[in-house]
Amino acid sequence: MASPMNKTYLMVAAIDFGTTYSGYAFSLMSSPEDIIMNKNWGENVGFQSYKTPTSVLLSPEKKFVAFGFDAITKYTTLLEENEDKDYYFFDRFKMRLHSSYQDLDRSVYLTALNGKTLPAMSVFSHALCYLKQHMMDEIGKVSSTMHIGDRDIRWVITVPAIWNDAAKQFMREAAYNANIVSKTNPQQLVIALEPESASLFCRELPVNQFVGQSGDGSDKLNMPPGTRYMVVDCGGGTVDITTHEVRPDNKVKEVYAATGGAWGGTQVDEQFVALIELVFGKTFIDDYRSSHPSEWQQWMESFETKKRSNTSVSGSVNFPIHYHFNEFHRRMKGGDVKESIDKCNVDGVRFSNGFLCLGDEKMRELFKEVVDNIMNHLEKLLHDENLSNVAYFFLVGGFSESPLLQQAFKKRFSSRVRVLVPNDASLAVVKGAVKFGHTPYVISERISPRSYGIECASPYNRKLHKGGKKVDKVCMNAFHKFVEAGQPVVVGTGMKHVFYPLRPDQTKADIIVYGSFDNDAHVTSAPGVQKLGITELDMPDTTGGTDRPIEVTFFFGDTEIEVKAVDLTTQSKANVGIHFLNDDIRC
Ligand SMILES: Nc1ncnc2c1ncn2[C@@H]1O[C@H](COP(=O)(O)OP(=O)(O)OP(=O)(O)O)[C@@H](O)[C@H]1O
Ligand SMILES: [Mg+2]
Repeated sequence: MASPMNKTYLMVAAIDFGTTYSGYAFSLMSSPEDIIMNKNWGENVGFQSYKTPTSVLLSPEKKFVAFGFDAITKYTTLLEENEDKDYYFFDRFKMRLHSSYQDLDRSVYLTALNGKTLPAMSVFSHALCYLKQHMMDEIGKVSSTMHIGDRDIRWVITVPAIWNDAAKQFMREAAYNANIVSKTNPQQLVIALEPESASLFCRELPVNQFVGQSGDGSDKLNMPPGTRYMVVDCGGGTVDITTHEVRPDNKVKEVYAATGGAWGGTQVDEQFVALIELVFGKTFIDDYRSSHPSEWQQWMESFETKKRSNTSVSGSVNFPIHYHFNEFHRRMKGGDVKESIDKCNVDGVRFSNGFLCLGDEKMRELFKEVVDNIMNHLEKLLHDENLSNVAYFFLVGGFSESPLLQQAFKKRFSSRVRVLVPNDASLAVVKGAVKFGHTPYVISERISPRSYGIECASPYNRKLHKGGKKVDKVCMNAFHKFVEAGQPVVVGTGMKHVFYPLRPDQTKADIIVYGSFDNDAHVTSAPGVQKLGITELDMPDTTGGTDRPIEVTFFFGDTEIEVKAVDLTTQSKANVGIHFLNDDIRC
């Protein structure tokens, strides 16, 4: 894992597996800037898009049926024909890895729309397998003069920076299951952080390729060494924020641990559904949705269009009342839709000429909570003394294309920070991920999200080791930290420490790695300290007694970490597999 640069590849291929939409992009090693994407997602169903919904349909036998727009269309047809019961349809399931912060293991289950469940690992793997295959077909079409096999490709999969280690490992394993790369060749797959990838994309973009900026196409942003900027990735599920500083060698270092929250664009959709339920009643809407799923789908598509348009900033917004809605309403409520809307007493909602109309303010209200959460979070960050001198905000991710969100940002922050949104903000992550695959070490320093270290014996200290295992004057389970949470770590370099065996006749040593979010933990039995991995190091030559150094090295700063131990007497070596998924920790 430490060096993805060892082998020569012909191509970099990246997958952005989003909460709402997914896509891929690739470019040849020989022409990294010529990034190619499939722009024809949804062509079977009348769309043309660079991304497709992250939706998976599996058969009753749990076999893959469809992904993306196709999955939605096929599932809606199954629903209409009442044949959906034995199928499995999943959408917006990536958030499950974010929310299951404490309890993530390989056996975590996802619940399909009809309530049936399947292991999340299988759903993620099916989705990744499909995206890989689709991309390989596309690569085959565009590189007809050169055969490119999957072993010739450095693969990149992006994950939110605020995901914990377990979620990142989950994604890696799903990629192994999907045969994107073999488990025996982990270096071929880079797990990249979404905002970091977007950062690479934004820094190199000519000024005139940001919304509302002019220039002749050759001007780049003025970012001398020391410039600090924040990448704010506003996606469907989360807002994910990374802060970088440009170094004198033009690489960048992370200066603040990744931060953010579950304030994505889908929260606006949820507010819209809640409003409709308020007007017509939740039970009525639930029944309508299950009786007329394709019409419900049209409601949501029509909302998506309005959400993206300038009418979300000002002007009233109208939604057509569809045929079956009228019929269903008459049957279930005994009156027409107009009566329900007139009676509902919800300010800003009225009926006019066959449309449900939301007043000027009402549409903005649907955005309010999520936009306020984002603004308040950024405001708090700017008040942090380490972040007061941020020069740029780069807004990326699909939700950043929202005129209303852009306006809110400019109003609140443009007197303090230059707010820039690249054209096609929703593609910044996947295009940046391709750039990251070409130059993974352009990020030179990261902030460690937690303390990492190993268990060792240490002279007992009453203050630090309280509650630890005390034997004579020794604490047997001291937590020796190689790095603390919040500390910067240099990418690609190791941190070493030398330990010695406890007993002179010892022929093996257990190297046990622990992690903790709490820097005050000094014994491995302290609350919140998690065992992450163990290995046994052979120390066959006991001639040196207790004077036999064991060198342990942590490689930090990559998007994942690696630990190695060497018995310096015999040069016997061991690698510790770091296991962030709970069911691994059975050591
Ligand atoms: N022009 C627009 N105006 C408003 N919202 C938009 C616009 N374009 C896309 N969105 C919203 O952005 C969200 C999708 O953004 P994106 O594709 O970046 O998310 P994602 O990658 O699926 O999610 P995440 O990064 O959280 O995993 C959706 O909620 C979509 O409705
Ligand atoms: Mg995204």
